[in-house]
Amino acid sequence: MTKTRDNWGSKFAFILAASGSAIGLGNIWRFPTVAYQNGGAIFVQIYILFVLLIGFVVLIGEISLGRHTQRNPVGAFRRLAPGSAWKHVGVLGVLSALGVISYYSVVAGWTLSYVFTTAGGIFNSQLTQAEISEVFDGTVGNPLKAIFWHFTFMLLTVGVVIGGVRKGIERWSKILMPLLLLILILLVIRSLTLEGAEIGLSKFLEADWSKVSGTTVIAAIGQAVFSLSLGIGTMMTYGSYMNREENLVRSAGAVCFLDTLIAILAGLAIFPALFTMKGMEPEVGAKLIFIVLPRLFSEIPFGVLFGTGFFVLLSLAAVTSSISLLEVPVAYFVDERGWKRRNATLLCGMIGFLVGIFSALSLGAVDWLSEITTIGTRKMGFLDLMDLFMGQYSMTFGAMMIALFVGWRWGTPALLKEITRGDDPPGRLRKIIAFQIRYICPLLLIALIAILIINPNAFA
Ligand code: PFF
Repeated sequence: MTKTRDNWGSKFAFILAASGSAIGLGNIWRFPTVAYQNGGAIFVQIYILFVLLIGFVVLIGEISLGRHTQRNPVGAFRRLAPGSAWKHVGVLGVLSALGVISYYSVVAGWTLSYVFTTAGGIFNSQLTQAEISEVFDGTVGNPLKAIFWHFTFMLLTVGVVIGGVRKGIERWSKILMPLLLLILILLVIRSLTLEGAEIGLSKFLEADWSKVSGTTVIAAIGQAVFSLSLGIGTMMTYGSYMNREENLVRSAGAVCFLDTLIAILAGLAIFPALFTMKGMEPEVGAKLIFIVLPRLFSEIPFGVLFGTGFFVLLSLAAVTSSISLLEVPVAYFVDERGWKRRNATLLCGMIGFLVGIFSALSLGAVDWLSEITTIGTRKMGFLDLMDLFMGQYSMTFGAMMIALFVGWRWGTPALLKEITRGDDPPGRLRKIIAFQIRYICPLLLIALIAILIINPNAFA
């Protein structure tokens, strides 16, 4: 424990790495879909409201816990509430981070494989809709292929994390994040200049009240928690490498802003593209990404280029998120068990890979894994269940516990002390943050968890 702890090289390094964690498949793939299903512009507004009400302050709370204790999630709770059951919130975070990475890497593996599929020019105008679907089924439903790409993606993640905080995570975030933004902007321009782009754009920007209901609010909170990587200790771990003098509130604000900006830009890129295709109902989820969009790329000029760019974008976004997921258990083994980073990274990468094999086989390759149960009207396979329990329930529950811990156990005076070490945020802002973390966040998150207990398929 005597060796000095890893830390970020500058304040921008933290912002880049934390935004890298936040910005992922959740922004580029999930946000446009959820927004479409929930009334377009209204959803975007409700979403922004909850980012401000919950996301921003829980993010501040999480980073503060990490920076204050200079520890991984388990160590952070142990230090601040010794001998209590709070450390289990940290344990749940570490386990959930491993759970999320296991299936996230499978999905990211598909995007990686599509970089090559698309670049190879397979999606051309001769290909029928059915043939494009076959390419997709042949990727996700082929056990060897799915496992191979999952393995490759996990290897990339391990390769970055093994390099450490500065030489691995920071270095790669600095390269990948600007690249991601550049590709996304080019795609937005391409999409907005497609013939008929206005139709899709208006679907995204116009408010459709008929699609708004109670589940819209649940979806918005769930999306905000997932998108900002909250509740499972990721931001706590990244915060533990943060400099004491840095303005924590401003950095958290920058992360929220960038994460929301990228999600909206992704909506602007995807919606117009979707509705320019005649005779096709806009699909959601994996079908949207791997079937509808490739069909579009097969029809537009320079489609191979834009298609490849799109899958590169998804892969980049995914890798900067998955490194943050892997860093959580790695930091646990390094801090709490005194392991070498290298060994911790290899072990955690291996666990993520092995657990992920079940998800990789759950899209057609193995029948019982593909349809484990039905929740509501949805047939759920292993991957869907992991996403529901790890990516939604566990993260939302963790966010609730963190808000309760910071607001009531650690206490708002301690929080305010931690966030006023550097440049002071204005007094009024401090009061608002304290009020939100003590009252608003626990209230809303407890209500949400209660709804989920009564109606478990509210997220599904
Ligand atoms: N925020 C990421 C996304 O939007 O894709 C996903 C994620 C990363 C969730 C890291 C949780 C996490 F700890």
